[in-house]
Amino acid sequence: MSQNPLTLNHDVNDATRSAGPTRRPEVPTSPDIAVVPDTDPVFQISDLSFFYGAFRAIRDVSMDVRGNQITAVIGPSGCGKSTFIRCLNRMNELIPGTRVAGRIDYHGQDLYADDVDPIEVRRRIGMVFQKPNPFPKSIYDNVAFGPKVNGLKPASMDDLVEESLRRAALWDEVKDKVKKSAFSLSGGQQQRLCIARCIAVKPEVILMDEPCSALDPLATNRIEELMIELKQDYTIVIVTHNMQQAARVSDRTAFFTAEVSDEGRERTGVLVELDRTEKIFTAPGDRRTEDYITGRFG
Ligand SMILES: Nc1ncnc2c1ncn2[C@@H]1O[C@H](COP(=O)(O)OP(=O)(O)OP(=O)(O)O)[C@@H](O)[C@H]1O
Ligand SMILES: [Mg+2]
Repeated sequence: MSQNPLTLNHDVNDATRSAGPTRRPEVPTSPDIAVVPDTDPVFQISDLSFFYGAFRAIRDVSMDVRGNQITAVIGPSGCGKSTFIRCLNRMNELIPGTRVAGRIDYHGQDLYADDVDPIEVRRRIGMVFQKPNPFPKSIYDNVAFGPKVNGLKPASMDDLVEESLRRAALWDEVKDKVKKSAFSLSGGQQQRLCIARCIAVKPEVILMDEPCSALDPLATNRIEELMIELKQDYTIVIVTHNMQQAARVSDRTAFFTAEVSDEGRERTGVLVELDRTEKIFTAPGDRRTEDYITGRFG
C-alpha cells in the first residue's frame, strides 16, 4: 500500500483497512469507551488550535475520529464546532489570515504536511453544509460535476450518477427527471443531492455541518437514516445543535464549549469530553456537559 495516501492515487478502502499508527494520547474518556467497537482511528488530532488572525477560535483539541462510525460534535454557538470540522479537510485555510497549530494525522499521515495536496484532501474528505447548496445546474450535472473536475474517469458517468443518487436515497424520487434543475427539488431532496454530489467523488469521510437545520422533521429523519446506512462505507463527523439527533445517530459524541483562556479575555473553544454517545447523554464525565445537555446552559 502507498505510504502517502493523499498524494498518490490508491484504493481508499485499503487506507480504511490499514493498520493505524501508534495511538496518540486522547482526551480522558471513561473505560466504557471500549464498548464502542474499536475501529481504527481515521483522524488522530493532537493539540489542535486554530487562529483567525490573532483570535484563537479553538485551543488544544486532542481526540481521535474512528472509522465507520458517526462522531457527533455538539456544543453552544460559537464554541468552534464548524471551525473544528473545517480543519479536518483543510477548508479553513481558504480563509485568509488564518493559521492552524498542532497536528492532525489522517491514516497516520500529517494532513498539513508540505507534500499533501489540499485538493486531494477535500476529495477524500467531503463536506455537506448547513444549507443545501446545489449548483444552478441539472440534478445530473450536480452529481457529475465533481467527478469531472477531479479527473475521475468512470466507465460510465450515467452509472456513477445513478449509483451516487441511489446511495443518497434520492434515485427513486428523481430518476425520471435527472435533467431538470436541482432547484426544482425540495429542501430535503436538495440536501440528499448534495450528499450524492459528495459521494460521487468517492470520498472516505463525510463531514456534515448541521446538515438538517434547514429541514423539516420528515426530511431530517430521512437524512438520519441515510447517515446510518452510509457509515458502513464512510466515516462521518456531524455537527449538530439537535441533541436528539446526536443521540439517535452517533456512536461517539464530542462536547465542545467556549471558555476564557488563561492568557486572555477571549472565549476560546475547547473540547470538554469525547465519549460513547450513550455515556455522554446518560452519565457525562464533566459537569459542563451535563449542564449543556440538560439545557441548563447554551
Ligand atoms: N471567518 C471567520 N473569521 C473570524 N472569526 C471567525 C470566523 N469564523 C468563525 N469565527 C469565530 O470563531 C469562533 C468559532 O466559530 P464557529 O463558527 O466555529 O462556531 P460554531 O460552534 O460552529 O458556532 P454555531 O453553533 O453558531 O455554528 C466564533 O467566535 C466565531 O466568531
Ligand atoms: Mg457552526
